[in-house]
Amino acid sequence: MKQVIVASAGSYDALKLEERATPQPGPGEVRVDVDAIGVNYADCLVRMGLYASAKVYVGWPITPGFEVAGHVGAVGEGVDFAVGTPVIALTRFGAYAEQLVVPARQVFRRPDVWTASEAAAFPVVNLTAWYALNELAPLRPSHHVLVHSAAGGVGGALVQMALNVGAHVVGVVGAGDKVAVVQSLAAGRPGRLDVVDKSAGDARALWTRLEALSPRGYDVVLDANGVETLGRSYSHLAPGGKLVVYGFHTMLPRAHERGFLRRWARIVLGFLRTPRFSPLAMTTENRSVLAFNLSFLFDDHELMARAMTELLAWRTAGLLSTPPVRTFPLAEVGEAHRALETGRTVGKLVLLTS
Ligand SMILES: NC(=O)c1ccc[n+]([C@@H]2O[C@H](COP(=O)([O-])OP(=O)(O)OC[C@H]3O[C@@H](n4cnc5c(N)ncnc54)[C@H](OP(=O)(O)O)[C@@H]3O)[C@@H](O)[C@H]2O)c1
Repeated sequence: MKQVIVASAGSYDALKLEERATPQPGPGEVRVDVDAIGVNYADCLVRMGLYASAKVYVGWPITPGFEVAGHVGAVGEGVDFAVGTPVIALTRFGAYAEQLVVPARQVFRRPDVWTASEAAAFPVVNLTAWYALNELAPLRPSHHVLVHSAAGGVGGALVQMALNVGAHVVGVVGAGDKVAVVQSLAAGRPGRLDVVDKSAGDARALWTRLEALSPRGYDVVLDANGVETLGRSYSHLAPGGKLVVYGFHTMLPRAHERGFLRRWARIVLGFLRTPRFSPLAMTTENRSVLAFNLSFLFDDHELMARAMTELLAWRTAGLLSTPPVRTFPLAEVGEAHRALETGRTVGKLVLLTS
């Protein structure tokens, strides 16, 4: 079976497709024969050697990827999945492969109506949004919510969940052609949605527009931009507001930005310029900063099972729609990473094994 191996940090050519023996499940494990693999921005960070949990749990060499859709290929002792059952599986790395073995608790029956691509696009973005809006910053219908990068994988999931609660959602996107993609998420949902294209003006114009849309500030801001917006995201919180930080992508070079020194200078400067928040100020200002990374939460089995059960029920009830999906053959994994790093994609990218 074929598996993507990254031997050490690098660019797209560091993603090598290699032949490996078929893995065998042990007790309590399932071998999934993979049809489709979800690509996440975090996978690019893993390849670049910038993803903390990859260093903690795996090191080099590493196979990136957190989510697959496929069929049960074999089961270990004590597992009651039938061989051939269509499933979705979560894994802490290792998903970029034709076959992988995971604990049975990370395998979920796949609803019959889903294609493999739709199913592989589902878990990570929705788990991320679910954790932010259920565990960290639960919403009320009266809330004003600001979602950065709203046309992306996680962004689209956040917008849908916040609209489902009935909140007023303001989604920011980085290009004019992304506006309609986000607007389409409002259909049939109780909340109000405004979409702002930040490429239409400079940062001052963006924040003036965001202030006009919620003059008392935002109750919740969801920010994976990092250095570019974190400071203003915090200062635009309403009293009692929460800033949820879950990524830092503006610190990183986009696909077209060349030059080793320039790319690293951007990362280092971004790190140095990232705001540090004072608990003394937060207390008097009644504002909170919350942050998380899902890949460190995989060991909380109760949490992951509860989240997946609720998300699959929402999906079955039609409360979550499938994002636009663009597919690539597994052998073109480098092109998928390059596309994601342009910052111009919408929805999800998925790798297909055949
Ligand atoms: N903490 C967690 O557990 C967790 C889990 C999943 C994802 N994440 C984070 O959530 C964010 C979104 O992930 P995703 O997989 O759903 O990706 P995505 O949103 O589909 O793609 C990333 C988006 O970020 C924006 N962007 C800004 N600067 C960028 C840069 N230098 N390179 C590429 N894109 C840039 C672009 O949108 P605009 O230009 O429209 O803003 C782009 O479309 C990432 O930062 C990721 O690391 C965190």
